[in-house]
Amino acid sequence: MLQKRSVFLLFMVLLLLIVLTGWGVMFQRAANTKSDMSHAPSVRQGMGRERGMMDMGGMMSGMMDMGGMMSGPHGATIRLRDSKGTHPLAIPSVLQPTYEHGEAVYTLRAEVGETELIDGIKTETYGYNGSFLGPVLRFKKGEHVRVQFTNNLREPTTVHWHGLIVPPVVDGGPENRIMPGEATSLTFDVLQDPATLWFHPHPHGQTSEQVYKGLAGLVYIDDDEAKLLNLPETYGQNDIPLIFQDRLFTSNGQLDYWKVANADGTLGDTLLINGTVDPILKVQPEPVRFRLLNGSNARTLTIRLNTGDAFMQVATDGGLLDQPQMIQQITLSPAERAEIVVDFGALKDRQSLALVDDEGVVLLPLSVQKAQHSVQAKPIVSNPSYTSFLSSTENADVLLKESSVQHQVVFFGMMQMVQINGKKYDPRRVDFKARQGKTEIWEFYNKPDMMGGMVHPVHLHGAQFQIISRNGERPPVTEQGFKDTFAIAPGERVRVLVTFQYTGTYMLHCHLLEHEDQGMMATVLVQ
Ligand code: C2O
Ligand code: CU
Ligand code: CU
Repeated sequence: MLQKRSVFLLFMVLLLLIVLTGWGVMFQRAANTKSDMSHAPSVRQGMGRERGMMDMGGMMSGMMDMGGMMSGPHGATIRLRDSKGTHPLAIPSVLQPTYEHGEAVYTLRAEVGETELIDGIKTETYGYNGSFLGPVLRFKKGEHVRVQFTNNLREPTTVHWHGLIVPPVVDGGPENRIMPGEATSLTFDVLQDPATLWFHPHPHGQTSEQVYKGLAGLVYIDDDEAKLLNLPETYGQNDIPLIFQDRLFTSNGQLDYWKVANADGTLGDTLLINGTVDPILKVQPEPVRFRLLNGSNARTLTIRLNTGDAFMQVATDGGLLDQPQMIQQITLSPAERAEIVVDFGALKDRQSLALVDDEGVVLLPLSVQKAQHSVQAKPIVSNPSYTSFLSSTENADVLLKESSVQHQVVFFGMMQMVQINGKKYDPRRVDFKARQGKTEIWEFYNKPDMMGGMVHPVHLHGAQFQIISRNGERPPVTEQGFKDTFAIAPGERVRVLVTFQYTGTYMLHCHLLEHEDQGMMATVLVQ
């Protein structure tokens, strides 16, 4: 331990020297010379020289906690505080489409507003069709969708459909910038099976800030087949979205991103669920489906019941599982989703019930109401219609032994030095070439650094994939469904099975938003 400590100290002193002698400045200059990097100024101001020093400070204090440093993310972690349960949980509205010429037309605006997140304080926020977060867009499988989008922000943005399989031109990646005041129409077909997806901005260098200030919303895909599974589906009653986001308010109650930003992941002490601070939720003694989204910039969340009771997982990022799984907790890295069903009618202990994290912090107090009438819950049926290739053990076993891998992807680094296969994001470069309609194996490796390394949430656009293996073993049951984001720990190797449906350029990146903005992003050209 002592030896580790002194090696560590030496390293820190060296790093500090490097920063003081102006390496950091040179680095920033190099970044700024790229003329098309219009985001560079804010990165410089926010995460450059001054920030660099602050990060060093944070890391120095983080050294006090060597254990945490070696295993988890770099720098100090911030513990969440308990929800006081003083505000009823907000339920996002559902955006109704109009129907024109066989298209479902949705009108969406990104706007600046003020929101009373903390009692008596007006916080400047961003939102879609409102001042904070956005409505739920419910697409039907097989539908033609048109989204009429207007950017009412004072800065460029994009609308990215996270997890939705759409052509690159409407995917809302950094290349699809929409200027302030500009209106655009985004059309696509919805081809996927039922799932809980989301949308958020993706302008390179500005994603962290825009999401932090409130730009995020949910997309559901519905179809008629899923109605036969007996899943709870009364929106806002027994089918409830939970968007988890941690935030750090400034002393005057603002979400001033650049004041609190940390290049290795901006964490907060306050958890917002659906934009509600100190939320509480009333539920009936019946099965309730929660659609969980970790919408945090950087925080990984583990969610469980304070009683330790088990619940059912019914979906991963990309849709319903073939077979519901009984689990006691679920861990979601930034951008990951899961759907769970908690049967409040069957729980023995319904007093002071709550969703808590792995440290026991109260995230969402749950007040179970007295039964108004006896609800006889129908058992949830398994879901053979969504059977995936990998759910056959035979296929899974064959794939586990497969030796040929089409793409090798190495995630490495921290803060400003993040990279994929040794490079930072450059929109002019193609990093990977994939074949349209061909099923390929991609292998991801998280290369540890001298301080251990960090967990990175790996995200791929344009496809829903399946995890074949983690370090040569089948993934846990909670990951045996369609995924678009997964966490990879230092030293870990993860193989996934991917098929792209459309041609063009998609993004592959770390969904720790600060890493993404620092360039931990690559382009995939599908031909
Ligand atoms: Cu949710 Cu490329 O992002
Ligand atoms: Cu995405
Ligand atoms: Cu990362």
